[in-house]
Amino acid sequence: MSDRLSGKRIFITGAAAGIGYAIADACAQEGASLCLADRDGEGVSQLAETLADKGCHVLAVSCDITDRPSVEAAVSRARDALGPLTTLINNAGMNVFHEPLSMPEEAWQRCLSVDLEGAWHCSRAVLPDLLHHGGGAIVNIASTHAFSIIRGCFPYPVAKHGLIGLTRALGIEYAAQGVRVNAIAPGYIATPAVEAHWQTFADPAAARANIESLLPPGRMGCPREVAMTAVFLASDEAPFINASCLTIDGGRSVLYHD
Ligand SMILES: NC(=O)c1ccc[n+]([C@@H]2O[C@H](COP(=O)([O-])OP(=O)(O)OC[C@H]3O[C@@H](n4cnc5c(N)ncnc54)[C@H](O)[C@@H]3O)[C@@H](O)[C@H]2O)c1
Repeated sequence: MSDRLSGKRIFITGAAAGIGYAIADACAQEGASLCLADRDGEGVSQLAETLADKGCHVLAVSCDITDRPSVEAAVSRARDALGPLTTLINNAGMNVFHEPLSMPEEAWQRCLSVDLEGAWHCSRAVLPDLLHHGGGAIVNIASTHAFSIIRGCFPYPVAKHGLIGLTRALGIEYAAQGVRVNAIAPGYIATPAVEAHWQTFADPAAARANIESLLPPGRMGCPREVAMTAVFLASDEAPFINASCLTIDGGRSVLYHD
């Protein structure tokens, strides 16, 4: 355990699995106190037990980020247990991939509420603590879908473009009060969500191998590689990085195809 996040009290969404789980683990290793929020209450409780055994001051809460009262109750419990929050990591999200005109009626609302509005619910609940504290950090987990479009993945990129807009707008709005708001745009990261995506193909192993062959390092990223960047942006090592987005895709988004 080291202390890059010592004294930070961090609210992390979607911490029961994948990237959020790795972020929680990395933040605990760096000495932060944590509130792990996920609609999978059992999953975050198990992770909290593991991290508490390693000496982390940690609370798990069952919370659906699409439901504002649920978010406010979770943030209030976090504040009571840990003290005023210093940091928010908006990680919870889900893939909603369709061809636009044949998209089921409810898919648009579901995607926008999980992948965009949820981050706003959490931000508006946590920001008063950051402002009262004299500053703090928000890290939003966006996606390379925030900058480029893959056909058939609608409306996920609409929401992720919006999340970059939220990052920039809040970053500028509260910069003078010491709040930094940044995003991370991961490419393909090996998590349960991506594993589920491969299962939508007739030959999941071939689909995965095909994608990996297109990635400059020849492999997908791992959750810890995103987590270490979240630690950096949440820490005091990034005091002048604001309203920005760091891409973690092994270089895929700048690779030229002829
Ligand atoms: N894995 C990738 O390749 C990849 C790439 C780019 C961006 N992302 C983004 O990273 C984030 C994490 O993705 P992941 O791959 O780890 O996903 P995942 O499905 O493996 O884990 C997501 C977690 O979020 C939780 N969650 C989902 N909806 C929720 C809600 N409404 N309220 C509370 N919790 C909720 C789930 O229960 C789960 O624990 C997402 O925002 C995703 O869009 C992932």
